[in-house]
Amino acid sequence: MKMVDAGIRRRRRRSNGAALPLMVALCAALLGTACATVKPAVASTELYAGGSPSLPAGPLDIVMLGAKGDGKTDSTQAIMKAWKNACGATGTHRITIPEGNFLTGALELQGPCTASIIIRLDGNLLGTGDLNAYKKNWIEIMRVDNVSINGHGTIDGQGPLVWGKNECNKNYNCKILPNSLVLDYVTNAQIRGITLKNSKFFHLNLFNCKNVLVEKVEITAPGDSPNTDGIHMGDSDNVTIKSTNIAVGDDCISIGPGTKHVKIHGCRCGPGHGISVGSLGRYKDEKDVEDIQVTNCTIKGATNGLRIKSYEDSKSELKASKFVYDEVVMDNVSYPIVIDQKYCPNNICSKTGTSKIAINDIVFKNIVGTSATPEAVTLNCVNNMPCQGVQLVNVNLKYIGTHHNKTMAVCHNAIGKSLNVVKELASCL
Ligand SMILES: *[C@@H]1O[C@H](CO)[C@@H](O)[C@H](O)[C@H]1NC(C)=O
Ligand SMILES: *[C@@H]1O[C@H](CO)[C@@H](O)[C@H](O)[C@H]1NC(C)=O
Ligand SMILES: *[C@@H]1O[C@H](CO)[C@@H](O)[C@H](O)[C@H]1NC(C)=O
Ligand SMILES: *[C@@H]1O[C@H](CO)[C@@H](O)[C@H](O)[C@H]1NC(C)=O
Ligand SMILES: *[C@@H]1O[C@H](CO)[C@@H](O)[C@H](O)[C@H]1NC(C)=O
Repeated sequence: MKMVDAGIRRRRRRSNGAALPLMVALCAALLGTACATVKPAVASTELYAGGSPSLPAGPLDIVMLGAKGDGKTDSTQAIMKAWKNACGATGTHRITIPEGNFLTGALELQGPCTASIIIRLDGNLLGTGDLNAYKKNWIEIMRVDNVSINGHGTIDGQGPLVWGKNECNKNYNCKILPNSLVLDYVTNAQIRGITLKNSKFFHLNLFNCKNVLVEKVEITAPGDSPNTDGIHMGDSDNVTIKSTNIAVGDDCISIGPGTKHVKIHGCRCGPGHGISVGSLGRYKDEKDVEDIQVTNCTIKGATNGLRIKSYEDSKSELKASKFVYDEVVMDNVSYPIVIDQKYCPNNICSKTGTSKIAINDIVFKNIVGTSATPEAVTLNCVNNMPCQGVQLVNVNLKYIGTHHNKTMAVCHNAIGKSLNVVKELASCL
């Protein structure tokens, strides 16, 4: 789709008039005629103008490298080769995954690379159902600067083949099935236009990343599929998620400890478990979560809407602060607004009723729509460390269930103010 590329900021790369013909000549001398088909992979106006231009070490179209789009042949090695060819070059290079169904096992796309890399995904990648083909994750991009994945293709985890092997609902320390797309220690990344579908576990996981843009991405899995979170991030900085639709079996978006400066704008969520910060405090040495903005989103048919959760009797001491939720429409969401400082699934905490997680400056503004249970607002904070600076401004949520119950707010130890809030919820702050 042309449109996907059109939005990329164009930057003209310095032309390097002399070097390029020389390299082509050198290449031809060394490798013979095969070189004739190798051309600079990216137009000079395309994304990421890092470094001076160079040729990759070989082809970047996975079909030229032996991949078969028949849905059956294992194309892992062809994609790994394309990655190696691109990663070792300088300048900007584009790996092409054309239309077709390409079956693969684990793709460990490691850096550091000397090139900026674009993965043009127009076909479908299928993650094999053979769990022996993975160490941990499926597609894992590690320690790379300047990488973009775009196109109208699909990353299909083929989760239905293995969801039955997920025991996480019975065993809290269960074996984790492979996440579909994982970025670890990646900086300046863009994921645009593609679809992520039926992941075995999470669809997209960001760990220790910086400057990431996710735009116009579709993420889909059945509402009852286990642990199929849409986007999870932890220890990351400056993540923007725009115009993205997520319908999954767990959190649409979850923001873990150590994450700062997140903007979520124009997204749709549902079914799923909403847009969630947490769980915080499960492990030692977790870092603060700060500056999270969720604006212009719709949450539909989800179990939670906007949720912040931290473990009761948390293992680390940290702060969650400066969150703004503005212009969010709830459509039949079971628990639209939730702060839970006493989160404790499977009774793994000691029930001390205390917390070491400070929750401060949380603004819910212009939140309207419907709640599927009477409990439209839940602020369940602890006595030893009340939630501070909580604001409910222009909040109008109504219970639409069939019981004759009234919309209500359940609030403990939350300090702040409310302004222009429907009367059933106004007593909360
Ligand atoms: C990434 O892009 C920046 C800005 O264009 C550039 O300075 C840097 O060298 C690039 N990094 C790599 C590994 O190409
Ligand atoms: C945050 O990331 C965006 C790309 O999504 C980038 O344009 C912007 O410059 C980054 N901001 C900072 C402060 O690094
Ligand atoms: C809000 O999001 C919707 C998509 O859900 C989009 O159509 C609309 O343009 C967005 N509005 C603003 C002001 O960004
Ligand atoms: C709201 O969601 C519940 C399931 O959570 C469903 O049973 C009910 O039909 C939905 N109501 C409307 C009006 O969509
Ligand atoms: C409705 O209110 C009654 C009485 O307060 C309560 O027992 C019942 O659990 C409520 N129903 C729901 C769905 O919350």
